[in-house]
Amino acid sequence: MALEVSLMTPADIDGAIDTVQQAFAEDPYNRWIYNDRSKFSPVRNRVSLTLRYQWGIKHGLCQVCREMTNPTKILGTAMWIPPQHIANPESWAHYLSSWYLWFRQVAMNTYYGRGGLNVKRYWLWKEAQAEVQKELWTDENGYYFCNVVTVLPEAQGKGVGRALMEQVLAIADKEGRKCYLESSRKEPNVAIYEKFGFELVKEMKCDDDGDAILLFCMIREPVPQSTGLVF
Ligand SMILES: CC(C)(COP(=O)(O)OP(=O)(O)OC[C@H]1O[C@@H](n2cnc3c(N)ncnc32)[C@H](O)[C@@H]1OP(=O)(O)O)[C@@H](O)C(=O)NCCC(=O)NCCS
Repeated sequence: MALEVSLMTPADIDGAIDTVQQAFAEDPYNRWIYNDRSKFSPVRNRVSLTLRYQWGIKHGLCQVCREMTNPTKILGTAMWIPPQHIANPESWAHYLSSWYLWFRQVAMNTYYGRGGLNVKRYWLWKEAQAEVQKELWTDENGYYFCNVVTVLPEAQGKGVGRALMEQVLAIADKEGRKCYLESSRKEPNVAIYEKFGFELVKEMKCDDDGDAILLFCMIREPVPQSTGLVF
């Protein structure tokens, strides 16, 4: 497959959401956080993801992957949160954008309801995530955080994930920065991410009175760059 990776534009958002909804349909985290499937609203979920991608296009690093011969179809997407050096406080623009996203999410919840989202579990996950990131993110240069990467089920195992990953990993290597992700599946994802140089460093447990899931936290060290000098 001849693949092309580009930065996501607003016109790509719908196709990107198709990849998320299809790739995560049976995902353990998705099934845990939307545990009452009879209440799951794909419409509300699409609105929620649209708000998130609109934010990500401006403030994150969002990519889409297509096959060159069929550029209308998005095969896979990734959203990364860029690193923040410990010495650089969050910019006002970034801070305000997070609040703007939050207000839009509140408005969405008022209009659409929760669409089956288990709010207690959402906050359990958020708290566990904040704790784990506080423990693991010890590098003052910050981490490229792969917030989400998805490939349409029919296109999985054909190099789309690698094409998406490689661009950001190359930037991270050039800058000498670490990358981080949380996978909701041990198999086969941990083995897939190991192929990209990530290592499993922690299992994050989110426990709702005995109904628990594990998320697999992985870190990738930068690969030192060759100077190109031959002695
Ligand atoms: C995880 C995911 C993003 C990987 O993307 P992909 O396009 O399927 O992966 P690729 O085809 O690019 O394969 C990447 C590498 O993993 C290897 N790989 C692929 N599937 C594998 C499997 N089932 N077991 C072991 N290794 C596998 C490939 O051989 C390749 O290595 P190589 O390039 O050295 O040969 C994709 O499968 C996906 O969206 N899964 C469902 C949603 C999901 O779990 N997302 C991640 C949440 S954290």
